[in-house]
Amino acid sequence: MLLEKIESLLQEVSSLTAKNAEEVEQLRLKYLSKKGEINALMNDFRSVPKEQKKEIGIKINELKTRATEVINGLRENLAEAEATSDDIDLTRTAYPIELGARHPLTIVKNEIIDIFGRMGFTLFQGPEVDDDQHVFTMLNFAADHPARDMQDTFFIERSNPADVTKNVLLRSHTSGDEAHFMENHQPPFRILCPGRVYRNEAISARAHCFFHQVEGLYVDKNVSFTDLKQVLLTFAREMFGPDTKIRLRPSYFPFTEPSAEMDISCNICGGKGCGFCKHTGWVEILGCGMVDPHDLEACGIDSSIYTGYAFGMGVERIANLKYRVSDLRMFSENDTRFLDEFKSAY
Ligand code: DAH
Repeated sequence: MLLEKIESLLQEVSSLTAKNAEEVEQLRLKYLSKKGEINALMNDFRSVPKEQKKEIGIKINELKTRATEVINGLRENLAEAEATSDDIDLTRTAYPIELGARHPLTIVKNEIIDIFGRMGFTLFQGPEVDDDQHVFTMLNFAADHPARDMQDTFFIERSNPADVTKNVLLRSHTSGDEAHFMENHQPPFRILCPGRVYRNEAISARAHCFFHQVEGLYVDKNVSFTDLKQVLLTFAREMFGPDTKIRLRPSYFPFTEPSAEMDISCNICGGKGCGFCKHTGWVEILGCGMVDPHDLEACGIDSSIYTGYAFGMGVERIANLKYRVSDLRMFSENDTRFLDEFKSAY
């Protein structure tokens, strides 16, 4: 008798329906409340013979679980249906979308590419994992040059000490891209090579084991130092403002002859002298020079016909000058408080 009653209640609760929250509440009272039908079964349960208690107990539990599930389900469905109908105000203004920001190094790199792009430079990118041949040897670095030292350069493979040109390494400058491009092209060409470089440095506010450079190279007939100077002056003025002055100091790089380092008038104090420029009024921003005939020949370019200039600059350095970032580590820590400051830049 009791078992049949339970079975019929099970069927009953399985097909319950409700049109609104009130009806759901009625159902809850009818089946699940203290005075509800399921609790009433407990009175009958007391008089069940011992040997049937287990079977009937399980059935009652099943009924209770099912009724709870069905009634909760009805309540949820109604809430959902309500939310998707009258509650939606289709005329309401949309939530604002949080826009991301470009990384400051990307902003500066794009600006450099844009300025040189307007002067006819096209993009070329070489590999970050490179070999000694392109990064050092073809660029006229002597076999015992200290840049090849483990203290300066990360080596991936240093298998053959007798032949350093076989070494595989993380490039320590983008100048290797010059060799990659020149060995496969004949002049005239004007290229710009942005990219990441690696050096074996302890990480601090002023040094990092990786940073970014942009390399420039122009090879043609009759390219002179004057051309180099004018292009760099134009770049400096576009980047830092029309009043910017430049100064070229003689320097040495194995792959250029003559070589120079270029300073710009300090854009923080306008050249008067401040803490940033160490009271000199000038800050160094790049290395440059006329491509050494050795490099042209190493790449199969006739140095009796062609000459060229090259330059290389650090993107972090330019970004520091533009945005006064005091700690290099900020560029790679992904702290959104720092990155969000560049939302208004492009
Ligand atoms: N490769 C140099 C460095 O990492 C920068 C440089 C200097 C690049 C002179 C050049 C150049 O192309 O002509 O410090």
